[in-house]
Amino acid sequence: MDGPREPEVHADVRWQTSVRELARQSDAVILAHNYQLPEIQDIADHVGDSLALSRIAAATEASTVVFCGVHFMAETAKILSPAKRVLIPDARAGCSLADSITLDDLRAWKAEHPDAMVVSYVNTTAAIKAESDVCCTSSNAVDVVRSVPADRTVLFLPDQFLGAHVKRETGRENLLIWSGECHVHAGIDGQTLADRAAEESDAELLIHPECGCATSALYLAGSGVVSEQRVTITSTGGMIEAARRCRSSRALVATEIGMLHQLRRAAPAVDFQPVNPRASCRYMKMITAGALLRCLEEGRDEVHVPDEVADRARQAVTRMIRIGTPGGGE
Ligand code: 13P
Ligand code: SF4
Repeated sequence: MDGPREPEVHADVRWQTSVRELARQSDAVILAHNYQLPEIQDIADHVGDSLALSRIAAATEASTVVFCGVHFMAETAKILSPAKRVLIPDARAGCSLADSITLDDLRAWKAEHPDAMVVSYVNTTAAIKAESDVCCTSSNAVDVVRSVPADRTVLFLPDQFLGAHVKRETGRENLLIWSGECHVHAGIDGQTLADRAAEESDAELLIHPECGCATSALYLAGSGVVSEQRVTITSTGGMIEAARRCRSSRALVATEIGMLHQLRRAAPAVDFQPVNPRASCRYMKMITAGALLRCLEEGRDEVHVPDEVADRARQAVTRMIRIGTPGGGE
C-alpha cells in the first residue's frame, strides 16, 4: 500500500458536504476513534473507544463501514461483519503495539503453557486474534480476565502496561504478561507525570492504562502525593465519562493527544492539558481529510480478512463483546 498519495485537502464546508453526500450514496457509516484528527471526529457518525466502535460496527445496518482509525480496528469490524464492505482511508495506518507480537511468538508461548487461556488486547492482528481464546480492550480487560476461572493460567498480550494494570486490579498471580508496548503511550513516563502533577496540584489526572506512567500514577496516589480521587485510569471512552464528572477546573491527560478534542467537547468548562504534548500517533494521523474523501470516492482501501482466520478470530472478539462494560462512545 506504499506510494504517493494526493495532496492534503482542507477540511472546509465543501469537503464536509462532499463527505456526507458520498457516505449517503454508498450507504456508509463513518466511525472515528477518539485519537483521530478533529475534522475527522467531527464528520463521523460515531466517535468512540475501540470497544464502543466494535459494538457499533457489529450492530450497524449500513452496508459499508468506513473505519477512521488504525488497521486492526478496521479488521475487527470486518471480522464481526464479514458480509459488509469495510474501508479504511489509508491501509498503511498500522499500530506499533499490534506489531509487538508475531504469530510465531504466540505459538511458541502457548506451547510453553498448553493449559493457559490466551487473552489478547484488541490491538492485535486478525491472525493473533484467531489464536486467542478471548479479546479485550482497555475498557473491559479487567472484566475479561475476571471471567477466566481462577485456577487457569492467563497469557495476556501484547501490552505490558495494560497487563500490569489488570494484574493489580485482579490480584491474579497466574497472569503472565507479554512485554509489548505502544511507542506513544510508553513515551508518557512516570517522571513526566510526577513533575506535571506537582506543578498542577489541583488538576485531575486522566491516564490510559497503556501508559508507561500508569504505575507511577497509582504510586503517587498511594503515597499521598496526589489524592486518590484525582486519579482515573481508564480507556479513552472512560475518560469522557470522567471528564463529565470532573470537579476540578483543570485536568492532565496521559494518552494520545487526539483525545483532547472529545474531552474539551464533553466538558468545555475544564481546561484539559496533555501530560506529554508530543504524544501523537503517526498512524492515527494518516487518516486525513483528503484520505477520507478519496476513500469514499474510490471505495478503497478495502479491508479483507481470510474466512478461515476471520471465523476463528470472531469467536474471541464475540466473547469479548458479551463481557464487560457497555458505553464508551457517543
Ligand atoms: P481504547 O481502547 O481506549 O480506545 O484505546 C485504543 C488504543 O489504540 C490505545 O492506544
Ligand atoms: Fe497503536 Fe499506540 Fe497508535 Fe494506539 S496510540 S493505535 S496503541 S500505536
